[in-house]
Amino acid sequence: MKLSILLSFFSSLALAAPVLETRQQPTLCSPYGYWSGNGYELLNNLWGQDSATSGSQCISLSSSSSTGVSWSTNWTWTGGKDLVKSYAYSGKQIAKGKLINNITSMPTSVSWKYNTEAVRANVAYDIFTAADPNHVNSYGDYEIMIWLARLNNVYPIGGDLGIRSIGGRSYNLWIGMNGNMKVFSFVAVGNQYDWNGDTKLFFNYLRDNEGYPVATQNLIVFQFGTEAFVGGPANMTVSKFTAAVN
Ligand SMILES: *[C@@H]1O[C@H](CO)[C@@H](O)[C@H](O)[C@H]1NC(C)=O
Ligand SMILES: *[C@@H]1O[C@H](CO)[C@@H](O)[C@H](O)[C@H]1NC(C)=O
Ligand SMILES: *[C@@H]1O[C@H](CO)[C@@H](O)[C@H](O)[C@H]1NC(C)=O
Repeated sequence: MKLSILLSFFSSLALAAPVLETRQQPTLCSPYGYWSGNGYELLNNLWGQDSATSGSQCISLSSSSSTGVSWSTNWTWTGGKDLVKSYAYSGKQIAKGKLINNITSMPTSVSWKYNTEAVRANVAYDIFTAADPNHVNSYGDYEIMIWLARLNNVYPIGGDLGIRSIGGRSYNLWIGMNGNMKVFSFVAVGNQYDWNGDTKLFFNYLRDNEGYPVATQNLIVFQFGTEAFVGGPANMTVSKFTAAVN
């Protein structure tokens, strides 16, 4: 009796296992195709595609766990060489109402690689903050970007204030306005393919040097991806993106 129950338990396991192993990870090719799980999300953000004469982009999840995600994107765009077409990204999902002043650290790490660098694109963190904790997540009062790569002379918004040292690495700090949103872009000196750091240090710098109001701004999004301008077909593989807000 006991043996036959055990046997049928194991035989049902044997049937179930192959189904789990062959489960497909999502590939998102439609505009704003979205995946979330394990506290992370992916978006096939095609916000600037109307400025292209042709092209498309997909984003694919490779794996996810509570500590991070791995993913890839492939894209091709023609026309409008100085305009961003799309931002394929992974994001850490954030509890609403986190004041920057109340965050002690924002540790994150990433490893990425393009199969060709003959494209106009960046590879960058994108963080929005706003006084309204329920602000929409497509922009904010402030945008803080950390560019890990600048492929073929694409530029951030505004002007270059020169080199700043944050967390022991050098960045050019660019400041400009995108409509009513103030944009701070820290552009790494030399491409960073394996990068880890505490993103809170950038906010501390802006608090101390640029009057950034940490006591009234809430974290809205914490994302990493690639802004595609023109070129391709190109494929970027992100073998690791981890992020936390403490
Ligand atoms: C990108 O390249 C990787 C590695 O070759 C591949 O596994 C992945 O499917 C490609 N992604 C897309 C979206 O084409
Ligand atoms: C991206 O890869 C998918 C298959 O994963 C393919 O259907 C699509 O045409 C590719 N798109 C581009 C722009 O390379
Ligand atoms: C921020 O921290 C202070 C004290 O450290 C606390 O009183 C306040 O409720 C916190 N605010 C938010 C929005 O988390």
